[in-house]
Order: sequence, then C-alpha cells, then structure tokens
Amino acid sequence: MANKARILCVVGTRPEVIKMAPVILALQGSNWAQVRVIATAQHRGLLDQALADFGIVPDLDLDLMQENQTLAGLTSRLIARLDQVLADEAPDFVFAQGDTTTVFATGLCCFYRDIPFGHVEAGLRTHQRRLPFPEEMNRVFASYLATLHFAPTEAARRHLLAEGVAEQTIHLTGNTVIDALHYQVARSEDVVLPLTPGLRTVLVTAHRRESFGAPLEEICAALRELVQGHPDIEVLFPVHPNPNSGGRVRERLADVERIVLVDALDYRHFVAAMQRCHLILTDSGGVQEEAPALGKPVLVLREQTERPEAVDAGVVRLVGHDRALIVAAAGRLLDDPQAYADMARGVSPYGDGHAAGRIVAAVRALLFPDADLPS
Ligand code: UD1
Ligand code: UDP
Repeated sequence: MANKARILCVVGTRPEVIKMAPVILALQGSNWAQVRVIATAQHRGLLDQALADFGIVPDLDLDLMQENQTLAGLTSRLIARLDQVLADEAPDFVFAQGDTTTVFATGLCCFYRDIPFGHVEAGLRTHQRRLPFPEEMNRVFASYLATLHFAPTEAARRHLLAEGVAEQTIHLTGNTVIDALHYQVARSEDVVLPLTPGLRTVLVTAHRRESFGAPLEEICAALRELVQGHPDIEVLFPVHPNPNSGGRVRERLADVERIVLVDALDYRHFVAAMQRCHLILTDSGGVQEEAPALGKPVLVLREQTERPEAVDAGVVRLVGHDRALIVAAAGRLLDDPQAYADMARGVSPYGDGHAAGRIVAAVRALLFPDADLPS
C-alpha cells in the first residue's frame, strides 16, 4: 500500500508489554500499518525484561520512571511527554493496554489532540473506586476516553454497554494475554528454575498498592506458617522491584527456610514457573488469567477481583489478606487431593489465543472502511 496508517503502541509497565506484544507483532506483520512502539518506561527494569521476551525494540523511550514514584508525579511527567510525542508523531491511531497510569495518561493526551485511541482490555470493573487502587479509576477513565474498546470477555462488554458506551465501538476479542501465553509456552521448555526436586512449589507474587502495609504483613506471615506446616513444599516468590511491596517482602522473608525469593522473572521463566508449580498465590491481574489456562489453581490475595470469570468457573478463589484464611485455603489445596483436582481443570475463560488478530482487524476496518485489503 502507498499510504500506511501510522499506529502508535504506548507501553509503560511489564503487564502492558506482555499484553500489547501480540498486537505489536500482528501490526508489524501487516501490510497496511506502520507501527511505532513508545515506551514510557513507567517501569524501567521490568519493561526492558518484558520487551526482550518478545524481541520488541521501542522506537522511542521516554525513560520516565523515578525511584518510589508518586502517582501525581508520574502522571504529570507522562502527560507532558506524551503530548509532545503525539504532536511529533501525528499518529492515525494510538493503542494502550490495561489500567495503569500510562494508559490513563495516553487516553487523556489522545483526547486533547482528538486522535483515535484504542483501549485493549476494556470494561474490567470491580465497581469499587479504590479496589484496586488506582487501577479501577484508570480503566473507568480509559473507557470515557477511548474510540474503540477491546473487551476481553462478555462481562466486560456488558459493563461498557451499561455505562453508555456505543455498541458499535466495542469489540469482543478475548484477552491478548492468552496469545502471549501461547507464544511463550512454546519457548519455555528449556528454562532452568531454582526449584528443589521432591518439593511441591507454591508460586507467589504480590505488588498491589492497596496491599501495602498491614495486608502484606499478613501475606508474609501466612507464607511463613504454610512452609512450617508443610515440610514437602517450597515457596518461590519472584519479588517486585517496588520498594513498598518487594522491599517489605525481602525484609520479612529473606531468611525463611524453603521460601525462595528471586528477582522478578522474565516472562519466559515466569511462564515455566507457572507450568511447573503446584499452586499459585497472587494479587496479580494477569496471573489470574494465565494460570487457569495452564490448569493451575489460584488463590487471589485480594478482597475483590475484576476478573470474576475464573472464580465463577471454580478454578480461582478470592481469599483476601487475612493470614488465617490464606493458610486455611492453601492448606486445603495442599492436603486434600479432591479439592485440588476440582480447581486444577484447565479452564480458560479469558481467550482463545487469537485476540490480537481481532483487534488489528477492527482498527484496519476503522481506518480503511472502504478498502478490501488482505490482512
Ligand atoms: C504498576 C501499575 C500497576 C500494575 C503494576 C504491574 C500504576 C499506578 N501501577 O505498579 O497497575 O499492576 O505496575 O507490575 O500504574 N520499580 C523499579 N523497577 C521497575 C518497576 C518498578 O524499580 O522496573 C519501582 C520504582 O521504585 C518505582 C516503583 O517501583 O517508582 C513503583 O512503580 P509504579 O509503576 O509506579 O507502580 P507499580 O507498583 O510497579
Ligand atoms: N510476570 C512475570 N514475571 C514475574 C511475575 C509476573 O513475567 O516475576 C508476568 C505474569 O505472567 C503476568 C504479568 O507479569 O503476565 C503480570 O504482571 P503484574 O502482576 O506485575 O501486573 P498486573 O497483571 O497485576 O497488572
């Protein structure tokens, strides 16, 4: 084609890269799009790690992360820089994914400059403004700002309709995380992990802002109690670099026998860890979507989830932050084979691995409404 559409994909954090990568790769493989990847680097190390996992090199890196950054400070840096990027790049369409500060700022800057904005993973809601914080508000804002909404599930689509989003702007696509997972599963066989033969592995992650302080203390105490009560398990805990979450975890659990703290794993290694573990405890959004597809039971260390589909299917359970409740729920899965089998069923409510193709097709139809193009 003579005139390719200029498409920007803005990514800031690890999960945005993982979930945007299938879209970026699909756009790169198309004959109608000229794709440019803009890294805000809201995350520095985790972003680079995830980009490398998919062989993606940003065209522009804004390098905005600061140590222990505040939400207001990050938001103001993002808006100032992204506005300039949009002015310089003059894109025909901009993508952002999820519910981070990068996504909110991208949507707002597109709105100010009247540039079409596509929101990947639209319509997730807990309907509680501070759960999770600030993500619930970020995704609500993103829905007001988006031109196209890529809803991963029927429930997400219904949330958008209930908020008055025009039906023809919503595309039910599945979640691109399942595309990314398939890509990485095919590459994870030869991965070496620090696991002890003969022990069952409990994989743990925790990073949410609403867990800082007392909830995280409870989680750490529960993990200590779990390994003490179960001599045949070990905890593998890839630690998030945020000092308020990962820093505290290291202080509390560094010297506990059979709790293995490691730096955040790259995606290929983390996928291998999910495949090889027995059970997952997490407050992550993405892990709640991936683990069911791999047949691994998940206990969610949160009071609410915007991903109820796997809970409804019985393969994910919300356990919250209470030490005793976490120990009881995990203990049951470790000690009762039937309870474990009931949750380890390989249900995948979040996608079929073809979400990116649907997203890219919808954008092509918006930008070239009259064209009959091969994809
Ligand atoms: C952010 C997102 C959250 C997402 C999470 C994924 C916001 C407000 N939060 O949370 O929605 O679930 O990413 O992991 O958008 N840091 C590093 N290196 C890194 C990444 C973080 O050192 O690669 C440290 C820095 O001190 C940084 C701090 O972590 O200031 C917080 O980073 P930030 O992106 O603001 O929040 P997260 O808790 O990572
Ligand atoms: N992940 C990873 N390495 C880790 C921990 C998680 O690659 O050490 C992946 C995980 O598989 C998922 C994503 O990172 O795809 C989730 O990121 P995070 O939990 O930080 O953010 P959330 O999904 O909660 O926004």
